Amino acid sequence: MDLEDLKILITGSSGALGSELKKKFHHALTPNHNELDVTDKEKIMDFFKKEKIDIVIHTAAITSVRKCEEEKELTWKTNVDGTKNVVDVLLQTNPDGKFVYVSTACIFDGNAGMYKESSIPYPENFYALSKLLGEQEVKKLSNYLIIRTNFTARKKWPFPKAFSDRFGTYLFAEDVANGIVDVLNSDMNGIVHIVGDKKMSMLELAKMTTPDVKSMTINDYSGPKLTIDMSLDSEKWKKYKITKN
Ligand SMILES: NC(=O)c1ccc[n+]([C@@H]2O[C@H](COP(=O)([O-])OP(=O)(O)OC[C@H]3O[C@@H](n4cnc5c(N)ncnc54)[C@H](OP(=O)(O)O)[C@@H]3O)[C@@H](O)[C@H]2O)c1
Repeated sequence: MDLEDLKILITGSSGALGSELKKKFHHALTPNHNELDVTDKEKIMDFFKKEKIDIVIHTAAITSVRKCEEEKELTWKTNVDGTKNVVDVLLQTNPDGKFVYVSTACIFDGNAGMYKESSIPYPENFYALSKLLGEQEVKKLSNYLIIRTNFTARKKWPFPKAFSDRFGTYLFAEDVANGIVDVLNSDMNGIVHIVGDKKMSMLELAKMTTPDVKSMTINDYSGPKLTIDMSLDSEKWKKYKITKN
């Protein structure tokens, strides 16, 4: 069936990825945090009773590694229980509905890099742990996609410096949104990595939008443990070129 004919809900639609997805799915329902708080199961049930949702694209999450470490209760409520709430309500209202969960390369240990869909996760921090536990909730459904990726919004780098010794197969948020459209138009199910075709450092990524950004290394950093090599490979899906502008 054509995606245009299906009722799609995007959570987290004000976020970096959510706002790009909104542009791809003009007809989608895109409630903001206040209109649909994923920690409030009753409200989610009311929402789903009013609208028969065919596809949920779930991007809502606490995404700052530092905030997740400092506010574990909020992170658990949002990333783990919040995902569980939306999954459970979809199961009750439309068990055949599709759930697209946006997960992260950070669920891996970051030592070896180029992780595939079948690689074994080993999260390094609370953010990554919460995202991995969210994945487990999604697996209760029969019709799901767990999209693992790493991306940034195409805008000025938000810090004066960027790591020269942390790596990823980065994309911009709009590239990931295009990838999600592609995967949804296929008959793919399960875990799919949407990744760039080039492994690069965070510094290289930052320079694409902010040429004067300065270099730093992990030795200059203090804070929660970070995933060092977030590069992803895919044994299931094509790779994407990061868009230049
Ligand atoms: N950015 C990355 O590098 C990256 C990489 C891989 C995967 N991901 C995953 O991709 C998804 C999107 O990431 P992003 O960078 O676009 O995130 P983001 O810019 O931080 O946006 C997060 C969104 O979630 C919403 N939100 C937070 N708590 C909520 C709640 N209780 N109920 C409803 N909405 C809530 C936020 O709304 P308010 O701002 O109004 O609270 C915002 O719209 C996340 O699941 C993230 O884990 C991100």
